[in-house]
Amino acid sequence: LIVCLISFFPFFLLLSGSVHSILLPTIQKLMKGYNRYLRPNFNEGPVEIGMSLDIASIDAISEINMDYTATIFLRQRWRDARLMFPGNESVSVDGRLVSLLWIPDTFIPDSKRSFLHDVTVENRLIRIFSNGTVLYALRITATIACNMDLTKYPMDRQVCTLQLESWGYNLQDVVFYWTRGNDSVKGLDTLRLAQYSVESYYTSVSEAVYETGNYPKLVLHFALRRNVLFFILETYVPSILLVVLSWVSFWISQSSVPARTCIGQELSESNGNGSIPIVSSSQPNQSVEIGSTAEDSTEQSANSDTKNHTGTKEKAPNQGCGLSSVRDASRKAASVFIVENPHNIDRYARTVFPTAFLFVNILYWLYYLFL
Ligand SMILES: *[C@@H]1O[C@H](CO)[C@@H](O)[C@H](O)[C@H]1NC(C)=O
Ligand SMILES: *[C@@H]1O[C@H](CO)[C@@H](O)[C@H](O)[C@H]1NC(C)=O
Ligand SMILES: *[C@@H]1O[C@H](CO)[C@@H](O)[C@H](O)[C@H]1NC(C)=O
Repeated sequence: LIVCLISFFPFFLLLSGSVHSILLPTIQKLMKGYNRYLRPNFNEGPVEIGMSLDIASIDAISEINMDYTATIFLRQRWRDARLMFPGNESVSVDGRLVSLLWIPDTFIPDSKRSFLHDVTVENRLIRIFSNGTVLYALRITATIACNMDLTKYPMDRQVCTLQLESWGYNLQDVVFYWTRGNDSVKGLDTLRLAQYSVESYYTSVSEAVYETGNYPKLVLHFALRRNVLFFILETYVPSILLVVLSWVSFWISQSSVPARTCIGQELSESNGNGSIPIVSSSQPNQSVEIGSTAEDSTEQSANSDTKNHTGTKEKAPNQGCGLSSVRDASRKAASVFIVENPHNIDRYARTVFPTAFLFVNILYWLYYLFL
């Protein structure tokens, strides 16, 4: 029996509250009769829990996964009258003693993954003030969903939220509030992001309605605007330079077909017309006709149109006058595009080409910047 008692002695100690004996006298006294499974104000009104956030970083904003990863300091404070003690100061309690206290069951509903940092110890802090106020701070990294509208990419603006809800306590038990309204969130102003800048942010209080009841909810809204400069330097300027470069080809003589084709994109042997760009240089007149750069194709098609019409015109009288008059009209219309001197095409293109580019650009930038 004695052996039995001795072997169970540590157990008895534990059950009789040996944990309390390690604590400071103040906390030991506080913990006497404290039931951590009961919320403060039990059987009375709801506990008011004030929240504030420090955004330490927003690391990855992913368009593919539609989420962002943020590291935040979450501070929650509430008043637990059972923890009041006489005096004027506060006590900071070891983070491991969190398990002895009642704490709110706050969670982030949109988070896909999250973790509490635990190097070198779990990054949490508990401070108890003499008036019973408890401050509970955590450092969390969470990947949080954010629905993005990418129709205006890369000149888009995304509004993301960070929501905090109570998991189990509904509005009868727990009420959330931001401790300092819009100023409860710090760190967003000084945040440096690779592609975005934080345009604005504000906080709001709402409630989450589920089948099981209404739960307190706090929301931080923040708007991110993508930095276009990055894209201008990376994408737009090279593309514009490429277009400007292709413009130069209108100044190159038509007889030097290889030079003209070199400037455009790589031309395969079998392009739309089925003609081959390399032509014997001994027949410069022919090369104009066969020349298969993109700029010449309009002229060529105009020529072939008229050829077709003249070819079919011989058959036209057999098929009634109604059709032939249509053919005549279309032939007249086509004759407008017949160019006596092919060099004129280049001359027109020199102005039409940049004008068209400018026009498309104006439409493009108007739509993306102002609509
Ligand atoms: C609390 O501290 C402040 C200054 O730190 C002092 O003025 C005040 O008298 C103290 N109150 C009590 C109840 O000790
Ligand atoms: C309790 O004390 C803290 C620190 O002095 C103070 O910030 C807080 O407002 C007090 N809370 C109440 C409910 O008096
Ligand atoms: C917070 O900011 C929003 C948007 O700017 C504003 O509508 C709201 O009134 C502000 N709230 C407070 C408490 O200042």
